[in-house]
Amino acid sequence: MTNSLSGRTFVVTGAAGGLGAITARDLAARGAHVVLAVRDPARVTPPPGDTEVRRLDLADLASVRAFADGWSGDLDVLVNNAGVMAVPYGKSVDGFETHMAVNHFGPFALTNLLLPHLTGRVVTVASGLSRTGKIELDDLNWDRRRYSPMRAYGQSKLANLLFTLELQRRLTEAGSKVLAVAAHPGVARTGLDRHAGGVQAVVVKALYPLITQKKTEYGALPTLFAATEDVPGNAYLGPGGRSGETPKPARRRPADSDAAVARTLWDVSARLTHS
Ligand SMILES: NC(=O)c1ccc[n+]([C@@H]2O[C@H](COP(=O)([O-])OP(=O)(O)OC[C@H]3O[C@@H](n4cnc5c(N)ncnc54)[C@H](OP(=O)(O)O)[C@@H]3O)[C@@H](O)[C@H]2O)c1
Repeated sequence: MTNSLSGRTFVVTGAAGGLGAITARDLAARGAHVVLAVRDPARVTPPPGDTEVRRLDLADLASVRAFADGWSGDLDVLVNNAGVMAVPYGKSVDGFETHMAVNHFGPFALTNLLLPHLTGRVVTVASGLSRTGKIELDDLNWDRRRYSPMRAYGQSKLANLLFTLELQRRLTEAGSKVLAVAAHPGVARTGLDRHAGGVQAVVVKALYPLITQKKTEYGALPTLFAATEDVPGNAYLGPGGRSGETPKPARRRPADSDAAVARTLWDVSARLTHS
């Protein structure tokens, strides 16, 4: 991958731990200026290099706005990495179901607010589990459906792919050179499963011995590739090679490329987040 990122600025959300921390560490090691956007800056030891830590709570639009308002100058790459999975039913301060708040509405608002500063690309970290998701445009926040933590995660991760699709369409239409791309890490052993219960928890724990530290480190490679390599707009990168050491284009299902749903999701998201 591109060795020197000197002179380039990256924001990585959710960089306090897990894949975000690995992503931030690698970018900083290659000379980038990296802003770690985290919920609780006091808990974070930034990696060596040209790094700084700023507060960002994606479950709170006021915090998202404060982060964007505090930005000045160019931003090369925004990495929408932060996420939650399988959390119990709950609503954010803005009234959004928690997965949708953290995984979709927060990054949606953040991206739009930072867009005037962006010169390079927006990378959004989705998941292979987007395949379990269905976008219910009339009930994005699970007010009328029986809540399922994994289906809620799936919906929010499918929203990541549709967001990328529609963002790229809009950027192209506007004649912008900024790219919207997506990535998924495969399976990595991080803190993401801490809320999983019942059968999911048993399945995840059974997989632990197979997910080595190396495989977890490789989980950040599709994101890093999407953020720094020569890829087209709306590219979707996933793990490749035996252990995930060679990122490659990921497969999309028809639902991941549904332009009509993507447009409507965008409009609803813009209305609900006022962005
Ligand atoms: N691990 C996997 O196997 C896997 C597979 C597919 C996709 N992914 C995706 O990869 C991304 C990174 O996940 P991970 O595996 O690294 O999980 P992780 O270790 O749990 O990291 C998630 C990060 O998101 C942050 N976050 C949570 N809520 C937030 C909020 N309201 N505002 C700002 N940041 C918030 C967390 O911060 P705190 O420390 O403050 O909670 C944490 O730093 C996620 O988008 C996830 O969906 C992971």
